[in-house]
Amino acid sequence: MKYKVEVLTGIRPTGDLTIANYLGAVAPIIELQRQGMSPVVFVADLHAITDNEPSKVKQYLHGVVADYIALGVDPQKAKIYLQSDIAGEVTTFTVLLARLISVAELLRVPTLKDKLKAKANPETANALLLLYPVLMAADILLNKARKVPVGEDQLAHLEVTRLLARRFNKRYGNVLPVPEVLQVKSLRLLSLKGEGKMSKTNPGGAIFLMDDSKTVAKKIKAAETAFEGVMNEKLESHILVAKGLAKTQLEHEEVDAIIKSHKSGKPVMGQFKQLLTLIVQNFLREFQGKRAGIIRDPSYIPSVLEEGLKMARKNAIETLEEVKKALYNNI
Ligand code: TRP
Repeated sequence: MKYKVEVLTGIRPTGDLTIANYLGAVAPIIELQRQGMSPVVFVADLHAITDNEPSKVKQYLHGVVADYIALGVDPQKAKIYLQSDIAGEVTTFTVLLARLISVAELLRVPTLKDKLKAKANPETANALLLLYPVLMAADILLNKARKVPVGEDQLAHLEVTRLLARRFNKRYGNVLPVPEVLQVKSLRLLSLKGEGKMSKTNPGGAIFLMDDSKTVAKKIKAAETAFEGVMNEKLESHILVAKGLAKTQLEHEEVDAIIKSHKSGKPVMGQFKQLLTLIVQNFLREFQGKRAGIIRDPSYIPSVLEEGLKMARKNAIETLEEVKKALYNNI
């Protein structure tokens, strides 16, 4: 029972990314890479079709890979693959794992419970929603990943993976390493306008990675801030953005200086917005330039995915063989 992959994470290709996706999900992976790890990142397109039309998901597949690379995931260090390129192994393993957990247990997974309460209705919600955490377990355990960095919203799913690994090992022998959860500090980036979190579902209050400079300026201009001397969640969220996207020490210092004046009661929010706009525009300009370069060569992304697939396929075939041996020869 040996680890094959040090760090593994999956991304759902369900739409254009925002700066909240970058700061919350991509930046932590880049930080691990900077520390010398070789993360494996896969595009979780089978998860994405739980609540999205497959034809729509297909449109985002290569784009999301281009986004991740342009943001700093380095294919020389990291491996990137497409989940559905090993669909045979993933789905077989999902079936084999699903028999180790009860329907009642899956219905108790908090994310599913919340979803059924908030929007989906158990009468109409599709059954893939129930199997969602088992499918995640298949991704992780096929790769025998040691660590899985996830945000708070995925913790309950990771518990299902750990439970399934332990159950499998107890019944069929020590085959599957129980992964560690690497909880990524959740960044509460708020919508620039007044409606909860920054997300694709509130496009007016979100800054998308593909927004042009004019759009960015307009959105930040219309954003809510705080009265002189007052700190609130909105302003804290703007500061996180400024600090997270700033490229130079000087920009960091400028942010600190303005916030200091603000706290002492000076009217500097206009100045802060100007600086924030510049920081975001510079970040996006660099990102968009890199992304355009990546997309320009139509063979580049397929070649990156091919490289990742070699590793993923090897891991998947090996693990599934061990799993089947343990299951079917268990007399
Ligand atoms: N469910 C994850 C999300 O919505 C994506 C995902 C699928 C994943 N499989 C995974 C994340 C395995 C980590 C490990 O973000």
